[in-house]
Amino acid sequence: MSRIEKGLALSQQRNPGGWYVIGASEDVGRTTSIVRSIGGVEVVLWRDSSGALVAGPGECPHMGASLAAGVVNDSVLYCRWHGYEVDARGTREWQPFPALDDGVLLWVRLGTAGEAPLDRPVICERPPLGESLSAVIAIPGTCEPKDIVANRLDPWHGAWFHPYAFSHLTVDDAASTDEELLVDVAFRLNRTWGIPVRARFTCPDARTIVMHIVEGEGAGSVVETHATPMGINRDGQHRTMMVEATIAYSPRTGFQLTRHLSPLLKPMVRRTARQLWVDDLVYAERRYQLRSRRV
Ligand SMILES: [Fe+2]
Repeated sequence: MSRIEKGLALSQQRNPGGWYVIGASEDVGRTTSIVRSIGGVEVVLWRDSSGALVAGPGECPHMGASLAAGVVNDSVLYCRWHGYEVDARGTREWQPFPALDDGVLLWVRLGTAGEAPLDRPVICERPPLGESLSAVIAIPGTCEPKDIVANRLDPWHGAWFHPYAFSHLTVDDAASTDEELLVDVAFRLNRTWGIPVRARFTCPDARTIVMHIVEGEGAGSVVETHATPMGINRDGQHRTMMVEATIAYSPRTGFQLTRHLSPLLKPMVRRTARQLWVDDLVYAERRYQLRSRRV
């Protein structure tokens, strides 16, 4: 078995406890609801009057309307069709799902995958959010969550497939294990300049792979890649949402000033992450395609 497959097999044994990343904290405001799909289950999300996330079935128990874009007033969500009311207390017909806003990402727990439920999602070590800059992207692909994880368990592709982003990439074989990859890499700024860092890749649960910058510029920063199954499309293929949070941190005072520029910097961080994922989804989808063909 190759190292990538071995790492992947180990990652798939890690229990997510029924929790799924369903978007970015910024995706849900205070006045209206949104609906997203997890494994074919419609999930509605809104915030109560304290700002806490509320989630539940996305179908109105009255006549089946989508609870998307409903009016939220004083913790209550009103269905758009007939004003049917739902709130976090739930009713016999409509039971809320456990939900959490961790300050960067939104999580919902469903009991559909047969996973032993956990009270809280597995959240990796993060830098202090108040001193960091965080940016989230979400891109759908035709593959399964494990294909997204497999892409990131293969750092060897970085310098070949993304020469615009990385150079001098080496996997530290002596320091790496099946559960932890240590990589020395230079993030390219332009043709000549790169920032050398040491990064550690781990899988805290079966649908997540995390890169921590452990040495070099921005040590303490983290990039979390989450893969959430959305359901099956008309052609019978799996659709998965890749949600990636970059939480950039540096103890330097200059960076504290930079954080105030976050409205300008966030789009830049997102653009860079998106550029990588345009290629990486091709990789993940190719893996899925080959596997589907063999079945
Ligand atoms: Fe990649």
